[in-house]
Order: sequence, then structure tokens, then C-alpha cells
Amino acid sequence: MGKYNYSRKGLKGLTPFPFLGEVKTRVKAIQAAPDTIPQSVYNANILAKSLHPAVQHVKIAKVEDHGGAKSFTLVPDKARGTEKMAYFRASQYVSVSLNINGAPVNKPYTIRSNPKDALGSGDTSYTLTIKLTDPAYASAHILSTWKEGDQVDISGPLGDFYYQDLRDAKQVVAIAGGSGITPFYSMAAAIADGIEDFDLTILYGSRTAGGILLKDEIEAVAARSKGRVKVIHVLSHEEKEGFEHGFITAELIRKYAPQGDYSVFMCGPKAMYTFEEGEMKKLGLPKRRYRMEMSGDYLGAAQNADFPGSKKGKEYRLTVDIRGEKQTIPCKAEESLLWAMEQAGIKAPSHCRSGECGWCHSRLVSGDVYIPEDADGRRMADKKFGWIHPCCSFPLSDIELAIYPTE
Ligand code: FES
Repeated sequence: MGKYNYSRKGLKGLTPFPFLGEVKTRVKAIQAAPDTIPQSVYNANILAKSLHPAVQHVKIAKVEDHGGAKSFTLVPDKARGTEKMAYFRASQYVSVSLNINGAPVNKPYTIRSNPKDALGSGDTSYTLTIKLTDPAYASAHILSTWKEGDQVDISGPLGDFYYQDLRDAKQVVAIAGGSGITPFYSMAAAIADGIEDFDLTILYGSRTAGGILLKDEIEAVAARSKGRVKVIHVLSHEEKEGFEHGFITAELIRKYAPQGDYSVFMCGPKAMYTFEEGEMKKLGLPKRRYRMEMSGDYLGAAQNADFPGSKKGKEYRLTVDIRGEKQTIPCKAEESLLWAMEQAGIKAPSHCRSGECGWCHSRLVSGDVYIPEDADGRRMADKKFGWIHPCCSFPLSDIELAIYPTE
């Protein structure tokens, strides 16, 4: 073998001459190739795009009326380029693009359906269950105008109100108020189908037994969950056998909570969260053990104790700068900068509308704003360099704001 660590016997008789022809062949192939830069897309990018599409073009395939609420089944609009619905985690939401009397608005709605319905390459769908809210605005528009066959644009799945086994206990108590049942329906269906692996006890608050949204549907899912999902109905305005009565108090939670460690997830109106925060303290639950679904408009900022009283009822001028093009519009102290822009017909970016997602991230060029502490999702660098979330910023003076819409 000498200095080589392989046998040279097989190479005997080989000369470089046959390879010289290869150079000519290669040059010929290069000259015949098209004069463009080759494109390549990484599989990771293809996967990321399918999981997080910027927009999903959908059609309304079915409308179901629940009385005061409707369920809309959305399917991909292949004619407009959406082949399948993006997969989602149970309890995520999409933001729906609307045009309400000339105001371009994005509103978040929970995907109520089973994540299984968006799996695979065959027929895929989402279901949104939307209830008439008080005050009514986008929900009233949707409930009165959406019909089968309509085309709608929605975002990819968003939000992190889903179960995360590294963060959450294996047993979850859900507190739902009214249409706040929607994320828990999705979780329950995912548990029943083995997509999610945790136990769920749902304390579901409604005013009366007759007004329980999705009652039959949620009970049917619980029945096929092999005991992993339990539903307890709590009526605030009616006493009836077989139902709990009153509010969802610490005492009631204790009565139905599983033994040992558990997390509490809540979805409902802001007043419910304020009440339940007190109940969590009574239960002695650490902050990491309870979470609230926050997507949706921040209402009642001017009623917060730290909102400057002298500014109530004031109207200011908001100058909006979109890549050098400026427009000045009115804005009221009680209304968010995002709301003021939408009402003026400005297509400002937004998704969650609650200060969490950062999609509306804009630069405060001048002026003062009130930002509620419980909706201040900015990073330290944002605060230092004057970036705000207009969805949760309320004017306290004339404002100049630079926004960065993307198509
Ligand atoms: S829209 Fe999500 S932070 Fe403003």
C-alpha cells in the first residue's frame, strides 16, 4: 500500500484523457442553458408558507343560525389561489378582512372547529361561530350580510391561547362566558380525536338554559371524549335543576376542579376577567397557572382608574404618515388610534386588536397617548424608540403617527 491507504490496482490503465471531453460537454451545456438565475425554494419555506399564509381566500360553504349567533363554514376558494386551509392549533383565531360602510376593518374570530377539519390535502374547512356583541359593530355586519357562496379573505391562524404542555398543567379548567365557548369547543374536539392530550373541565356560564350557545354540540363532543372533557353549565339569570346557578366563583371552581395541579383558561367578556382575577387569588393560583384569551377590541379604556380624567370627551387631530403621504383626521380620547384610522377609511394593519400580536406596530412621531397597562404588549425597544400599537393607544393630544401597511 505504501503511502496510499487504498489499493491502486483498480486504477491501473486510467489516464486523464477521457475526462478532457467532459470539459467541452460542460461548456456546451452552460451555453445552451437559459440566461436566467436558477430559482430554488427550500422545503422549510414551503412548509412555513402553508402554515402561516399572509392571506387565505375562502368561500362561505354553509351558514347555521343559532338565534343571536351564526356558524359559518369556510372552505378554500381555489379559483382565487387558496388550495387548502392552513392547519391550526385548537383555540387559535383568524383575522377577518371586512369593509363596513367604507371602513376597512380586520376583526379576530376564534376558529371554532376541530383542527382535524383542516388536516390533509382533501376537503378542508374552518368554522367560525359569531355572536351579536354589545356594542354591535363587526358582528352585526357579519350576521346581517354574510351568506352562502360569499367570498371572504382571512389571515393565517394566529394567537397562542392554545394548550402548551411545557407551560400548562395536564388538567385544565376552562371558564367560558357566552361565545367564549368557541376556543374550548375546538380544544374539546381535539381531545376527543386524540390530537390534544390533556383533560378539560369546562365551566360554561350563560344567562339562561335556553340561551346556551352550542349546547348540544359541546355535550356531544364531551360524550365521545371517554371522560376527558366535562361540561358544567352555570346560569346567571335562572335557577334550574341540573344546572349550577350564579357566577363562576372560586368555590364553584374548587367543587369541579380536578385533584392536584391544574391550569385555568378563560374566554369571555372583560368584566368576567376582572371578576375571575379576584377568584384566582382566592384559589391561591400563581399567575403562570391562569390565562385569558385577549383578542378583540380593548373596550372601556376611559373607565380605567389611571386614564387621565381631564382628557375625557376631548377630540384631537391625528396625522397619519404612510410612506411620506400624510393625512389628518379627527380622533377622540376614548377611541383607539386604530379605530380613528379605520373610520376615516385608512387601511391600517391589525389582527388581534388587543395589543398582543404586534401587527399594527407603528411609530409615534409626536404627541401623547394613553396605553392601558393590561394591553401593553410592546417590547422594551419599542418603548425606548417610540413605537406603539395603535389598536390599544388612545390620544391625549394631537398626534403624528407613521404606519406601515403591507398588501
Ligand atoms: S393588532 Fe395586534 S397588537 Fe395591534
